[in-house]
Amino acid sequence: MTRLLWTLAVLPLAIQNALAATAEQWRGRSIYQIITDRFALAEGADLNACDPGDKTYCGGTWNSIRENLDYIQDAGFTAIWISPVNQNYDGPATDYGDPYHGYWMKDVTKLNDRFGDENDLHALVEEVHKRKMYIMVDIVVNNVMATSTNPDYSDYLFKDAAYYHPYCGIEWGNTQSEQNCWMGDSKVPLPDVDTSNPDVVSVYTRWIKDFVATYSIDGLRIDAAKHVNKDFWPQFCGAAGVFCIGEVFGDAAVEPVAQWQGADALDSVLNFPMYSALVSAFQIPGPNNVSMISSVLEESKAKFTDLTVLGNFLENQDLPRWSNLSVDPQAMYNAMTWTFMSDGIPIVYAGQEQYFHGAGDPYNREPLWPSNYANTTARQLISELNVVRNFLVSNDSDVDWVTAPTVIKTESDVGIAFEKGPVITVLTTIGSPGRNATNIVVQTDYPSETLFFEVTSGGFGDGRCIQWVVGSEGHLEVEYTKGGRPRVFVLGTVLENSHICHEEVSWAIVHEGLKSAAAPIQASLVAGAVGLFAAWMSIQY
Ligand SMILES: *[C@@H]1O[C@H](CO)[C@@H](O)[C@H](O)[C@H]1NC(C)=O
Ligand SMILES: *[C@@H]1O[C@H](CO)[C@@H](O)[C@H](O)[C@H]1NC(C)=O
Ligand SMILES: *[C@@H]1O[C@H](CO)[C@@H](O)[C@H](O)[C@H]1NC(C)=O
Ligand SMILES: *[C@@H]1O[C@H](CO)[C@@H](O)[C@H](O)[C@H]1NC(C)=O
Ligand SMILES: *[C@@H]1O[C@H](CO)[C@@H](O)[C@H](O)[C@H]1NC(C)=O
Repeated sequence: MTRLLWTLAVLPLAIQNALAATAEQWRGRSIYQIITDRFALAEGADLNACDPGDKTYCGGTWNSIRENLDYIQDAGFTAIWISPVNQNYDGPATDYGDPYHGYWMKDVTKLNDRFGDENDLHALVEEVHKRKMYIMVDIVVNNVMATSTNPDYSDYLFKDAAYYHPYCGIEWGNTQSEQNCWMGDSKVPLPDVDTSNPDVVSVYTRWIKDFVATYSIDGLRIDAAKHVNKDFWPQFCGAAGVFCIGEVFGDAAVEPVAQWQGADALDSVLNFPMYSALVSAFQIPGPNNVSMISSVLEESKAKFTDLTVLGNFLENQDLPRWSNLSVDPQAMYNAMTWTFMSDGIPIVYAGQEQYFHGAGDPYNREPLWPSNYANTTARQLISELNVVRNFLVSNDSDVDWVTAPTVIKTESDVGIAFEKGPVITVLTTIGSPGRNATNIVVQTDYPSETLFFEVTSGGFGDGRCIQWVVGSEGHLEVEYTKGGRPRVFVLGTVLENSHICHEEVSWAIVHEGLKSAAAPIQASLVAGAVGLFAAWMSIQY
């Protein structure tokens, strides 16, 4: 993996000890999301003993994550997000099983000994930092967990009922109720901590400051962020001093989510509105409503304070797996390419790359080990996207790619094309079967004969580093006789010295354009993947 190592080497140096990775520093990262219990087992453990339907511990630990970081880093990720690390309920199994997921808090100031001890957590962070990666930890402060609506709080961090809102069931859609009433239900109530109480604020802010410093945590993923009074977050995240990305669950509409990003709330949020749009556009079978993407994007530009730090995802521990929603893998490849090449931080939930296809909780929390950590087509595409994105992030000599805005160039019911900095991405909804006479034509602002490289092959192996040339009217045109894979084109000159497309390339030609080429250039049909049209040609050396 010379290429990958080189790419990582030019990223800004990760912080070795402590220190606050800011939104600015996270913007160029790419995140792999892990439920600690389900990612990996210690060597020699029984590999067959984990059925997600059992809703109990399967044995993953911070040590087993540390021992298997190669799998993540080799796919080009530059950060991990791990499930909560703090002490959970440890009583008899409930109707919803045991807290193997880590979200059933008892005392955030203690570690969860199911996943290791403080030395193990330190060792994990140290190894992550040694690899110049970041670690984000999932934090739950909105609530604790109990088995009755009138619990004995003597074992909890907050030992007096006065630190909690009195029990009430949530009336959804009523903000006051969503923030003060209890999540969960009568089987597993989640007592709502009163985060407007000054003593609570003081205990929580002192704790998070200490926690982040002690373990050198680079960022926080905030569970149930919208269930907390908004003005709590600047105090809490200010004390933490690191990037905070909040979960504002489920909303397809932009406004209710966007209001949680900003100086009066959080650095960032998970991009649920774009998730909904991507499902609507790419799911197969599905409505293929591509205009959802541009309408969410345009509204997002108006309402979010910074799109380029939003967390873009297709899956997480609460949603059905993408492959449960959509049977054609091309749908995932295209939607996933949006999450990497448009504005925002890409997040891949462990197992997505293995085509796991469980429905909702608990079936979407499959153990990863039965996959044998295979180098699937999905994983290869992810690796390619990470290599390209990491390069673009590191190379800001002309245009700062990561902050350049995403601009939609064209859209139709068969696909969408967009530009971000010197990169044009063409996505389609048509899926795997090839189609004749289905083309996407992108009107570019580049002069004719400008050279681009296609930088992903999507596992087909035959697309990568093929040169494309902008046609006489500034067109780039893609056709789909071999099926609808995603296409990412990077301006040729940008890739010089990138090691992404280096071999066999004449950089003089890339710089000077086709006209100056001394030797004749062979225009060819490339294995049927691209065609030859009046307005453009595809060129292969
Ligand atoms: C597709 O999405 C657009 C934009 O959100 C919306 O206006 C339109 O009604 C949707 N079309 C269908 C058929 O759902
Ligand atoms: C979705 O998940 C459910 C429950 O795990 C399963 O029965 C169904 O077969 C899955 N669908 C697909 C397409 O994988
Ligand atoms: C995965 O497969 C691709 C294509 O064969 C190969 O280039 C890449 O090195 C493999 N990655 C790993 C980690 O084995
Ligand atoms: C596309 O057209 C070619 C030539 O007519 C034909 O051989 C091929 O089967 C067609 N492919 C599809 C997917 O219709
Ligand atoms: C970055 O891009 C510029 C062109 O924008 C190019 O000249 C330079 O070689 C690139 N840097 C690296 C390290 O590839």
